[in-house]
Amino acid sequence: MNASAAAIIPAAGSGSRMKLDHPKQFHMLAGSPLLIHTVRAFLLNPNIGRCIVVVPADWLETTRTLFAQYGLDQKTLAITAGGRRRQDSVQAGLKLLDDSTDIVLVHDGARPLVSQDLIDRCYQAAREHGAAIAAVPVKDTLKKAGTDQYVAATIDRHRLWQAQTPQAVQRILLEKAYRESDGEDVTDESSLLEQAGIPVFLVEGSETNLKITRPEDLLLAEKIMQNAHTPRVRIGHGFDAHRFAPDRPLVLGGVNIPHCLGLAGHSDADVVTHALCDALLGALGARDIGHHFPDSDSRYSGIYSILLLEKVMAYVEEKEFSLGNADITIICQAPRLARHIPAMQEILAKACRTDVESVNIKATTTEKMGYTGREEGISCHAVVLLENRHYN
Ligand code: CTP
Ligand code: MG
Repeated sequence: MNASAAAIIPAAGSGSRMKLDHPKQFHMLAGSPLLIHTVRAFLLNPNIGRCIVVVPADWLETTRTLFAQYGLDQKTLAITAGGRRRQDSVQAGLKLLDDSTDIVLVHDGARPLVSQDLIDRCYQAAREHGAAIAAVPVKDTLKKAGTDQYVAATIDRHRLWQAQTPQAVQRILLEKAYRESDGEDVTDESSLLEQAGIPVFLVEGSETNLKITRPEDLLLAEKIMQNAHTPRVRIGHGFDAHRFAPDRPLVLGGVNIPHCLGLAGHSDADVVTHALCDALLGALGARDIGHHFPDSDSRYSGIYSILLLEKVMAYVEEKEFSLGNADITIICQAPRLARHIPAMQEILAKACRTDVESVNIKATTTEKMGYTGREEGISCHAVVLLENRHYN
């Protein structure tokens, strides 16, 4: 860990374009005030040893309370009051730096979606180049409007970048830029550095590193956050066991298997399909098959369990997942199941809307040990991996 880098987070603006009755940085976003998301990102980063947050003077107390309430690490945090312009707020933050700080990362309080990777790259680039800012190459064609809102000119977008934050710079260079500034209004630190003749390197940022500026940006940020919190994959395990009984069919994995005994149960007692359903529900954190299809409900009496599996899969898809693969182990002393396995695979794969290679089924005896070994019944384990459809 390198504790010699500090973050300064200017969050002292009034958010006039957001048209709220409070500064936008205190507005709730995905369960926390926007500023909490931003500050958390810097507290989490191992390169950052100290984090200075600059807020409006009349929000100092509220900010302190919020940081405590959201459990932020107070030891590495400092809070101070900002100024009229953004550059005044950053300067107020600079005054709180201690002697050990050699790199400063300035980041808008209003950019809560900054990634760890972007913080890392800006930090590294400042070490290497002296000063570096996150920015994205302009992708739309740029028009300059005349006074009458007719196009006056098309600007060549070649080599044009949109500046973002973090803007990372060696502390002495930033202090020099402030000293040499003529006090003119600027909207980022890079402008001051440029005026002082200090070269600034461009680090490729990200379109999702939004600055929350207008009301629609909040909706976009909510969506992006929701996605970021949806896991790529989820794992599930299911287990089921049914007792042998006379005068019952033996249905395993949707296949009717000739045998002198069947399995007892409210439905068709298809232990394989039940284990698979439980694994799928488990992966979603959605309890189990008994919860969704209770045996007190006569609709499920004698039901072909593949129909239940189809309902479970519809639920999986509703949650925006699909089956990556399943691995199923049937524990059965008799009858021998090997020749039925391809048919089971086919039926289960179809119900799960996947290919047969993604549904592996194996059967084992327990060498006559235990209840399955004594042929009292059949049990089954299933493990599944669900994949989030947004990542495919
Ligand atoms: N900022 C600041 N001090 C100021 C002005 C702005 O610390 N005097 C901060 C804002 O809080 C924000 C960042 O600088 O985190 C970027 O500024 P901007 O998006 O323009 O925010 P506001 O100035 O608050 O919004 P607006 O321009 O719409 O009033
Ligand atoms: Mg502003």
